[in-house]
Amino acid sequence: MTSATRSRKATVVGAGFYGSTTAQRLAEYDIFGTVVLTDIVDGKPEGLALDMNQSRPIEGFETKVVGVTTDPATGAGYEETADSDIVIITAGLPRKPGMSRMDLIETNAKIVRGVAENVAKHSPNAVIIVVSNPLDEMTALAQLASGFPKQRVIGQAGMLDTARFTHFVAEALAVPVASVQTLTLGSHGDTMVPVPSRCTVDGKPLTDLLPAERIEELVARTRNGGAEVVALLKTGSAYYAPSAAAARMAKAVAEDSGAVMPVCAWVDGEYGIAGVYLGVEAEIGAAGIRKVVEADLTESELAGLKEAAEAVRAKQCDVFAL
Ligand code: NAI
Ligand code: 2OP
Repeated sequence: MTSATRSRKATVVGAGFYGSTTAQRLAEYDIFGTVVLTDIVDGKPEGLALDMNQSRPIEGFETKVVGVTTDPATGAGYEETADSDIVIITAGLPRKPGMSRMDLIETNAKIVRGVAENVAKHSPNAVIIVVSNPLDEMTALAQLASGFPKQRVIGQAGMLDTARFTHFVAEALAVPVASVQTLTLGSHGDTMVPVPSRCTVDGKPLTDLLPAERIEELVARTRNGGAEVVALLKTGSAYYAPSAAAARMAKAVAEDSGAVMPVCAWVDGEYGIAGVYLGVEAEIGAAGIRKVVEADLTESELAGLKEAAEAVRAKQCDVFAL
């Protein structure tokens, strides 16, 4: 651990299930000087931060967690987040059973717009990672409201959806998750594009190991992965796998690692698609997206990606007007 690395500062906005688990994961990496956790509920981030700090001697990390209550009307409290290198926006409502992510759009747009404006004011050089739903639209809105270059605003979805796909494949074949490679692209919603042609198990194509109908079942379960958890929980949505995904993205930024990850990124000509935030693979570094990496897709996968782009594009226009 170099002191230069531990001098970095990360902020997690929203101390709900997603935000608090993300803050704890970031702190446990022990690569940040400070992790700031904020919320609008008085005392909640302070209480959670105190609790997390008390786990430091047990887990053996030095990162300090600072909890701050913010006022969404005045922005008071955001001064504690000043000069963050990375800001993860988790503020917003989660789904209830039967709701689609799109049902959250109006409420969460107001929240995310206000948060992004305050982030831009206090941390003008940060990389923003958005997780609030509907993800692709909230990522576009955070970029607009912050005024940041598009490469510095990224959404988290593909890491989670891909992890779900990998888990389902590993379970179906009774193999370790480490032997499975999968990929999902497109939107974090109905037009998610799981990519079976890029899936392998110990280097062998998934299509050689499972019949097409079984792969289609796993694809459908992946697309429905968030709703399956929501239906079981009855209140709230998933947060263990989602927070692992966002924290890994933040780590790649903090370490300027160049890791290639499926994320929601601004697409500008790749795959013949331009001018939209979309789930693609991208190389992640200190300045956010270094470059979008194009995968070899089958004709139908590419058609699915283009369909996703148009669906997201239409909704992104709507969200800017909210
Ligand atoms: P939660 O309800 O547990 O927490 C949300 C928190 O945001 C609450 O503590 C609330 O007080 C806070 N909040 C509301 N307005 C705020 C503001 N202006 N500033 C700061 N904090 C504010 O919900 P959870 O489970 O943490 O989920 C958060 C969001 O993440 C939801 O929109 C959910 O749909 C989304 N999500 C996205 C995933 C993805 O893959 N992109 C996966 C899972 C959840
Ligand atoms: C998920 O996929 C609800 O977007 C959230 O778990």
